[in-house]
Amino acid sequence: MVRDKTIVLGVTGSIAAYKAVELASKLTQEGARVDVVMTKAAQQFVTPLTFRTITGRPVASEMFDLASEFSIEHVALAERADLVVIAPATANVIAKLAAGIADDVLTCTVLDTKAPVIVAPAMHANMYQNRITQENIARLKERGFVFVGPGYGRLATGEVGPGRLAELDDILGTIRQVLGREGDLAGRRIVVSAGGTQELIDPVRHIGNRSSGKMGYAIAEAARDRGASVVLVSAPTALAPPAGVEVVQVQTALQMRDAVLKASAKADALLMAAAVSDYRPKAAARKKIKKEVETLSLELVRNPDILAEARGDLIRVGFAAESEDVVENARKKLEGKNLDLIVANDITASDSGFGADTNRVIIIDRQGKVESLPLLPKLEVAHRILDKVVALLSG
Ligand code: CTP
Repeated sequence: MVRDKTIVLGVTGSIAAYKAVELASKLTQEGARVDVVMTKAAQQFVTPLTFRTITGRPVASEMFDLASEFSIEHVALAERADLVVIAPATANVIAKLAAGIADDVLTCTVLDTKAPVIVAPAMHANMYQNRITQENIARLKERGFVFVGPGYGRLATGEVGPGRLAELDDILGTIRQVLGREGDLAGRRIVVSAGGTQELIDPVRHIGNRSSGKMGYAIAEAARDRGASVVLVSAPTALAPPAGVEVVQVQTALQMRDAVLKASAKADALLMAAAVSDYRPKAAARKKIKKEVETLSLELVRNPDILAEARGDLIRVGFAAESEDVVENARKKLEGKNLDLIVANDITASDSGFGADTNRVIIIDRQGKVESLPLLPKLEVAHRILDKVVALLSG
């Protein structure tokens, strides 16, 4: 998404300006051309030299810079930007943008550009909650500005409240989402499930499995980055909710069924990457079970099959975690659940499957075509699966 894109990164006078250095670094590493524009106040916190060194590109801060290669710096920046990101954005710059004031390189660039603008506010909680700021933000949102954050937490004053710059992963996720808005899944609604369900035994115990949720989260992010609106139905995982994705947190298979069926009512495709428990205890004990007996039996009942219950006109993609006869077992599941695609992996390999950041999968379609992918990062696997979903949606 980001490679070869020109991103104008506006940095304004907040203590969070130091976090913009990391953002500039990450974007540069991902192959973006990052043109940093600093306000005067921002330079009190971080120097232009820092950004110059990180991005390898000139940093704009002066309206009338005789050394600039462009005759009118802000016009050149505005024209070549694929995206403008202001992080951190102070209450002051937000107010100026809302009023159309253009009195420095950054505000002139924003007023001049046709590129999308992302704003990541950072300020003291009272300034953020002030109705003037809230009205300014609402006004900018109406005009298509995309806001990310602020986060809630410890502020520079030591107080706790809203006003922290959004987490870098959320800013990066929003950047990818905005750059991918016109992608091949634009206008599509995709439902993804992820994680391993937990079936309650009593108030403190459950039956679980080893799914980390990484594959499902990668699919949700990849679909978002291709323009889809994504609902991610997630069983408990250690992963942060991805930016720009509607996340529905569930615990049990029954909760997942309800959430998935509700979300897929208006969806185009359902990708069930979750490891859904096939069984649940017949009844969860209301009180914690004490160790009073030598042996204990749990009676388990079958959980409903979510994929099988989903609408037949959806593109439905299942996942098969196998430890033997991978292709044959996966094919049986594809046919048994009448799926469009099944993605199978061998969970006995240490570099793919549970918990790993990479995966080696085999994708089988309805026609019986088998495609074996090499070991790839899960995000790349996600894109390969979505390539097939896009083809099915347009075919
Ligand atoms: N799945 C589902 N609802 C369930 C169980 C599984 O929708 N109650 C989905 C999973 O999300 C996955 C696929 O079905 O996409 C896996 O199929 P399944 O036959 O349940 O796989 P296993 O549980 O691995 O089957 P088995 O234990 O028989 O190998």
